[in-house]
Amino acid sequence: MSLYKPCRQEWLGRGTCLVSKIQAYLQKLYEDEHMTDVIKLSHQVSHAQWNEGEGIWELKIKNLSTGEMLTDRCHFLLDRSGILNYWKWPSIPGLERFRGNLIHSANRPEDFDYRKKKVVVIGNGSSGVQIVPAIQPEVQELIHVIRSATWVAPPGLENMKASTAGEVVQALDLDGLRFTEKQIQQFNTDSAMYRKFVKATEEVANSKFALVRPWSRN
Ligand SMILES: Cc1cc2nc3c(=O)[nH]c(=O)nc-3n(C[C@H](O)[C@H](O)[C@H](O)COP(=O)(O)OP(=O)(O)OC[C@H]3O[C@@H](n4cnc5c(N)ncnc54)[C@H](O)[C@@H]3O)c2cc1C
Ligand SMILES: NC(=O)c1ccc[n+]([C@@H]2O[C@H](COP(=O)([O-])OP(=O)(O)OC[C@H]3O[C@@H](n4cnc5c(N)ncnc54)[C@H](OP(=O)(O)O)[C@@H]3O)[C@@H](O)[C@H]2O)c1
Repeated sequence: MSLYKPCRQEWLGRGTCLVSKIQAYLQKLYEDEHMTDVIKLSHQVSHAQWNEGEGIWELKIKNLSTGEMLTDRCHFLLDRSGILNYWKWPSIPGLERFRGNLIHSANRPEDFDYRKKKVVVIGNGSSGVQIVPAIQPEVQELIHVIRSATWVAPPGLENMKASTAGEVVQALDLDGLRFTEKQIQQFNTDSAMYRKFVKATEEVANSKFALVRPWSRN
């Protein structure tokens, strides 16, 4: 879903959890656009079976709020359940005997306080690259365990400036990589300008799909 409504003033603040703000924004969009009838939140598909005789998918669905089991049927079933939802620990012998706090980035307790602790971060994928600089100023000691090399691309904004969206992005009022209050105000009041910005940046993002299509001529 593209963020076709301007981002909120509240997103500007630092210090509070951006994730909860984005979730609240999407929740509001869901209600404002009357999507409650067509999108079922907190429902988990637990079983899907193709009925060859009737040519239909038969589903078992659990309402995670009430525990109620439901059934549904459809002619076409599109699985978009993601590849990152079922995380696992790396197979490190003896890991289960570790006596400190063992935390996986996909299942981090929100209230975990890493300050003044000795922390070991395993891995330098995107998570490791983001977590290390974020916690480093506050931990007592940090050890980053790296197995192979990684490469980091220049910031997206710099790439955008050099792209077809360059003119629109250059005209933005930014404080470093952040939109200023003035800019957010303009997004909220000038819908034509906001639409131009969204379309220009989406065009750049969408053009990158050619990279993952081996048959692409681009
Ligand atoms: C920490 C982190 C940061 C990231 N940052 C970026 C970033 O900055 N930029 C970027 O481009 N990408 C980023 N990514 C990658 C990006 O989040 C994923 O590529 C993207 O979310 C995948 O989208 P998806 O719709 O395929 O899956 P998901 O976003 O995982 O959505 C799948 C949905 O299916 C639901 N689901 C799963 N099983 C069932 C079931 N049985 N029944 C019903 N529903 C089910 C899940 O609850 C979930 O809502 C990040 C990933 C992580 C983990
Ligand atoms: N801002 C973002 O865009 C963002 C942020 C976070 C996550 N994501 C996405 O989320 C997905 C998961 O990312 P992720 O970084 O959590 O996981 P990941 O990409 O699978 O990276 C895991 C890292 O852990 C290392 N590792 C695994 N087992 C190890 C071991 N036993 N000893 C030492 N190192 C070990 C891997 O090393 P090897 O490379 O040697 O295997 C790799 O560097 C990716 O698709 C990523 O793009 C995106």
